[in-house]
Amino acid sequence: AAIEKGHFRHFMQKEIFEQPTVVAQTLRSYIRRVDQSVALPQFDFDLSQIRRVTIVACGTSYYAGLVAKYWFEQFARLPVDIDVASEFRYRDPVLEPGGLALFISQSGETADTLAALRHCKEHGQTIAVVVNVPTSSMAREADLLLPTHAGPEIGVASTKAFTCQLAVLAALAAHLAVKRGRMSREEERDLVDQLVETPAALNAALAHDDEIAAMAHLIAPARDVLYLGRGQDYPLALEGALKLKEISYIHAEGYASGEMKHGPIALIDEAVPVIVLAPSGPLFEKTVSNMQEVRARGGKVVLISDAEGLAEAGEGCLATIEMPKVHPLIAPLVYAVPVQLLAYHVACVKGTDVDQPRNLAKSVTVE
Ligand code: G6P
Repeated sequence: AAIEKGHFRHFMQKEIFEQPTVVAQTLRSYIRRVDQSVALPQFDFDLSQIRRVTIVACGTSYYAGLVAKYWFEQFARLPVDIDVASEFRYRDPVLEPGGLALFISQSGETADTLAALRHCKEHGQTIAVVVNVPTSSMAREADLLLPTHAGPEIGVASTKAFTCQLAVLAALAAHLAVKRGRMSREEERDLVDQLVETPAALNAALAHDDEIAAMAHLIAPARDVLYLGRGQDYPLALEGALKLKEISYIHAEGYASGEMKHGPIALIDEAVPVIVLAPSGPLFEKTVSNMQEVRARGGKVVLISDAEGLAEAGEGCLATIEMPKVHPLIAPLVYAVPVQLLAYHVACVKGTDVDQPRNLAKSVTVE
């Protein structure tokens, strides 16, 4: 059957709003409800023997991989190497026996990623893929197939495939952590409980749609926009900037909050909005002080956070968007929503072709 937009204006908008449903659908196939543990598909090698993970992907899928790097290192204490697929093969990466190579792709056909997969296979790596199209080349060539259940994604700019990738990668991180003796069964159960809450948290984030649509009018006139984030939310700053570039054609850059003082701060003036992703936690105060450096230079800040006293922290900001309180493992999924919505609404204000932005293709099958 043809896929319809229903009451939505664009496929991208529909896909953003589908996220609670498709993330829940994806998680269901990775969680065993009887004992609240993570369950992966059957395969015949021992994950506890993996010594290193190499992650390769392109575009938005690459940013999902960057988040996974934080998770695999933090929870499973596994060293992770990550690269964009177009760079990977040409630097002749060191691939030692016993390595797991992980490829992330919505389409499963991106030429650079597929070539990197084949290169890793030739070099004796075990191949895992997180892919949305189960009949794709990558799905067929994998040793371990980890499907996302996002359903067909029509909008060229990826949204629901990204959050579903993160859901699978979070489950994989927990599984690897248990296998490597870095996480107890009780901690695993806790984490699974949190993961099960993700769709509700996504709904809470989606409830800010009107607010973000109104804010989009303030961002649309900008020529440049900066996105800041730290730790596992730094990749979300990169993804936010990518979404805005892709569909609104506004130049945007994502930066690690603490790195701003080494360059981008020179750009800050009243004309450059700065979107700050600042989940509460040990790094929150540091991010707030980065934000004050922006404000002191006349920069207009949009603060996206779940921190207590957000109104106070956000005093003098252009706007604040309050996120639901969630486990740090889930924060990247939840923070994806406001950056997607912001890009979407800015593009609508600018009147661009949201679902088919100029010069971009849904799946890039040339190198
Ligand atoms: C294209 C699309 C992006 C996507 C990237 C990777 O550039 O426009 O939205 O993130 O390819 O695609 P993949 O199918 O490998 O995830």
